[in-house]
Amino acid sequence: MGLRLRFNLVLTAVFVAGLAVSGYVSYDLLQSNARDEVVRKADLLISAAQAIRGYTVQEVRPHLQDKLAATFLPQTVPAYAATTTLGRLPDQYRDYLYKEATLNPTNPRDRAVDWEADLVQRFKRNASLKRLVGVREAAGSQALYIAHPIRITNAACLTCHSTPAAAPASMLKRYGSANGFGWQLNEVVGAQVVSVPMSVPVTAADRAFLTFMISLAAVFVLLYVVLNWMLTRMILKPITAMSRAADEVSTGNFDIPEFAESQKDEIGRLGTSFNRMRRSLQQAMKMIET
Ligand code: HEC
Repeated sequence: MGLRLRFNLVLTAVFVAGLAVSGYVSYDLLQSNARDEVVRKADLLISAAQAIRGYTVQEVRPHLQDKLAATFLPQTVPAYAATTTLGRLPDQYRDYLYKEATLNPTNPRDRAVDWEADLVQRFKRNASLKRLVGVREAAGSQALYIAHPIRITNAACLTCHSTPAAAPASMLKRYGSANGFGWQLNEVVGAQVVSVPMSVPVTAADRAFLTFMISLAAVFVLLYVVLNWMLTRMILKPITAMSRAADEVSTGNFDIPEFAESQKDEIGRLGTSFNRMRRSLQQAMKMIET
């Protein structure tokens, strides 16, 4: 096996191993960064919903309390305010969803569908569970969801959600008495669920990964070409020439030119040594001849 082949085999093995390891590590890192970014967005959305709920209770409802007896104003209901506001996000956020998914909702729009009902049941079974995060397939693409339990911690909620008899008449007029009642104190009645599309950050991560791998491979190829060029020029060519010259000298041909002695590296010194050896040999031969 020639020097070049051995050299290139080792180089290729190192390149392939390096590419595989850095590919694995960077893919993992980029994907988990993409997921973290989506989780942050979902957290922001659910915090916004929380803020809207608070604003509605503290700053809107007090001003409208007196009017509620005559006509019920859903604008004073935190669930309505949060759902309606986040439902109005501009078109570019059409896939960002917020829902107060409830098993027995006042407004049928809030009824938990199968997978949301599963989340609610998990919160019901495990009181210490404060948050669930997961990924699901929605409309052909992946979406990440975050869910928080909706627990009735305040007896005031039961005015409108315990029995129709306790609820304001104006509310019954609007919503009927069939749904949204029978809730208990400390019961988990539903889950706040936000859903954020994963496709954009995941595609961006895939693209970053591809760019990184291509540039890494390009660096490797460049290194490969340069090292091979240096190997040829600085080692293989001079050594082949010296081996040829040694062959000639060994058969008594002293007519070939000497090696230039200008080069100061190991190969240059080898050439100098060779020249000296050849002159000694030539002199020795001459002495033998005379
Ligand atoms: C003044 C009556 C009233 C009070 C008090 C009230 N709610 Fe409601 N709640 C409603 C109405 C009406 C809706 C339906 C709003 C809509 O159309 O989106 C609703 C909706 C909800 C929903 C969404 C699911 C559904 O039923 O449609 C949740 C969750 C909820 N309320 C929880 C609470 C909690 C928790 C409290 C106490 C902090 C509370 N509510 C206090 C009237 C009330």
